[in-house]
Order: sequence, then C-alpha cells, then structure tokens
Amino acid sequence: MRCVTCGQEYAVTELRYACDCGGLLEIVRDPRELARLKTSTFDARRTSGDPWDQSGVWRFREAVMDVGTAAIVTHPEGGTRLYHRDALDAYAGVAGVRFKHEGENPTGSFKDRGMTVATTQAKRVGATAVACASTGNTSSSLAAYAAQAKLRAIVFLPEGKVTIGKMAQTLAYGALCLQVRGDFDAAMRLVSEAADKLGIYLLNSKNPWRIEGQKTIVWEMLQDLGWDAPDWISVPAGNLGNTSAFGKALKEAHEAGWIKTVPRLLCVQASGANPFFKSFAEQWKTRHKVAAETVASAIRIGDPVSYDKARTAIEYTQGIVTEVTDVELMMAKRAIDGAGIGCEPASACSLAGVRQQVATGAIKPGARVVCVLTGNVLKDPDVIVKGIDGLPPLPAPVVIDPTIEAVRKAVGG
Ligand code: F0G
Repeated sequence: MRCVTCGQEYAVTELRYACDCGGLLEIVRDPRELARLKTSTFDARRTSGDPWDQSGVWRFREAVMDVGTAAIVTHPEGGTRLYHRDALDAYAGVAGVRFKHEGENPTGSFKDRGMTVATTQAKRVGATAVACASTGNTSSSLAAYAAQAKLRAIVFLPEGKVTIGKMAQTLAYGALCLQVRGDFDAAMRLVSEAADKLGIYLLNSKNPWRIEGQKTIVWEMLQDLGWDAPDWISVPAGNLGNTSAFGKALKEAHEAGWIKTVPRLLCVQASGANPFFKSFAEQWKTRHKVAAETVASAIRIGDPVSYDKARTAIEYTQGIVTEVTDVELMMAKRAIDGAGIGCEPASACSLAGVRQQVATGAIKPGARVVCVLTGNVLKDPDVIVKGIDGLPPLPAPVVIDPTIEAVRKAVGG
C-alpha cells in the first residue's frame, strides 16, 4: 500500500486505512506483472463453472488481490449486463449509448464489487467486526458479506436519511444499525474514529481494497465491449470511491495493453451535493465542502473522502466533472425506468450528465458512451410513488370493483 500524498509504503497485511500523514492509501502493483496478464485469460474464465471465475471481480483476481481462491468471500458478484435501448439514444442525444447496470449485483448496487474484496481482506487480517458509514447501499452490501463471512456488522447511518429499501435490507442481513444524529459526513467521521479507537475493521471506500474491487466495473465493461474502449464513461459521484477506482482501472488497463485508448470520465454530481464539481470548476484551487441536500439520497455527501484520488482520475482521463439538478436526474430516471431498465435516482445522474454534455457540445453525437447505473430501481420505492416538485407525477394506481365494466371504464374503453 502506498500513500497518494507522501509516498510512504506499508505491507498489504498491515491493518490500516490511512497513512501516518493522513493521506489515502492505494494498492500498487508492478506494471510488468500486470502486462503479463492477458485479456484472453479473463475471457476464458467467463465460461468456467468456478465461483471465482464467474465473479466479475475475481475473474480479474491477479490484478485485484493476491490471495488463494479458498480465502475468497464471494457471492459471486458482478457479471452485470450492458444494455442498449433506442429510446435512450434519443434521450441522451448520442447513438448507441450503453448502460452497465451495477444494480444487478447481489445486493442491488455496485458496492458488492468492493465489498467482496474488502471482506476477504478483513478475514485475512483477522478482523471480527466490520463497520461503515453509509447512505444505505454500502451498509446493505457490508451486512450481506459480513453475514456470509460470519463477521459482526455495525453500520453508521445518517438518521432519517436512508431509504426504506436500503434500511430494511441492511437490517435483514443482520447488521447493527446505528442511526447517527447528523448527516453522512458526520457518520463518516464517527466511524473512522470508531475504527481507530475500538478496533473495528473499516469497510468504507477509504479502505483501498474496496477500490481494487470496484475497478472491475470498468474492466468487465471493457470485456463486454470486446476490449474496444468507448470514448466516454459516465458515472454518478458522491464519496468519489468509484471515480477513483475507474481512473485506476483505466490506467492499469492501458499500461497493461488491454486497451489502446483511454476513455474520458464524465463524473456527475447532484447540484445540491456538488463539492467536487465546485473544485473542478475552479481548476482545483480549493477543496470544497458543502451541506448536502438532494433527492438522490445515495449521493447526499458534502465532504467526499476520496477527493485526492478522484482528482487524479479526472486529470489522467482528461475527464469532466459536472452537476445536474434534481429534476434533471429524476427525468433521466424516468427515461431509464420507462425503457424497462430501471435504476435508483443517483444512478440516473450518469444519463442526465451525458444529455447535458451532448447539449453543450463536449460529447459529440457520434461518441461511444457507457453510462454506469449504480443501483437497483427498488432501492428507493418512496421517491417513485411520491415524486418531487417540478416532475410530472406518474399515473396513480386505480382502485376498481371486480367487474368488467369497471375495467372498461378504467382503461378508457
Ligand atoms: N450511486 C449509488 C447508488 C450509491 O449508493 C453511491 C454511493 C454512489 C452512486 C456514489 O458512489 O461514493 O463511490 O462516489 N453510496 C455510498 C453508500 C455513499 O453509503 O452507499 P461514490
């Protein structure tokens, strides 16, 4: 593990998530070892019956974590689909826009890709209890993997700010839910302190093994595309773990010779939770913090932890960071839901951002674009039923008598 701020190195078996200087740690590998790995090996594993080959994370294991397959805690996860719908081409303004649906992971979000690796590491370092702060998806994933690995799960949630779907799921898998009086950022600070003082193993994306797992969203997407890299990858951004992971994945894939060109990242925040966008817009002069408020509760984050790594990712890929309004992201969600795919509000930022950047001319209509959908449509049922101001309501469910006349009337003849 190497500190991204001061370069200090630590053994991977050491139980720590930050450098002594306070900087973020990342896993480093010998580029020559990566270059020895061939895409044909990963492709052949797709048809294998072994769980670690079926996993869209562990299929790339030599570039994720060096650990014997017997030690791996896997559902398996990944193996998510890449969709295309004509109606969404029209909405985005580009032909052939693809959607990598990470909501198809076992617990309904991309978090499982990082959690399988970080839980495996938790077992490797002998942890008995694991914890995270979460807006609901990380906690659901942690709870499921901890249950599988027989680890005690303790999650820190901003009180009253987690959707019913995510809260129920986290409880169902058996985690102890601590509802912190405060926002996500307060819960994040508290869990970091708890990890340091109480010896609970931290599974937030500050833990570099989460990032190693989440790299495989990009690698599997590239594999889906026959290792022919797209021009743009669009991703919703909150705590910036994914943005960081995508940058690292692209750098490693390019250096290893798996892809010839490096796609540009489009990193999309909600305008009510936009600290990273603000920093980007002023050429990184200030690291901003905001009091976050958005309908996309998954990314209601004002002080993202992985800022430094995410900035490197944007610079490496010549990326763009942007913001979209709640109405824009909810309209994009409508389009995705209406195309029969479905996703939670935060996920739809990816499409809303592409539509905006096509309109400004930054993304050309002929560009090859992949949007990442981060969470499942059932994660936030309330917002679908209740809607938000400025968004036309969906037709309400109609109660009818059990007669054919009532049906005829209800369907308009
Ligand atoms: N989309 C969804 C559905 C999420 O749950 C999250 C983060 C993001 C996007 C943003 O990803 O943090 O890597 O920039 N959810 C975290 C959680 C914070 O606790 O579930 P990021």
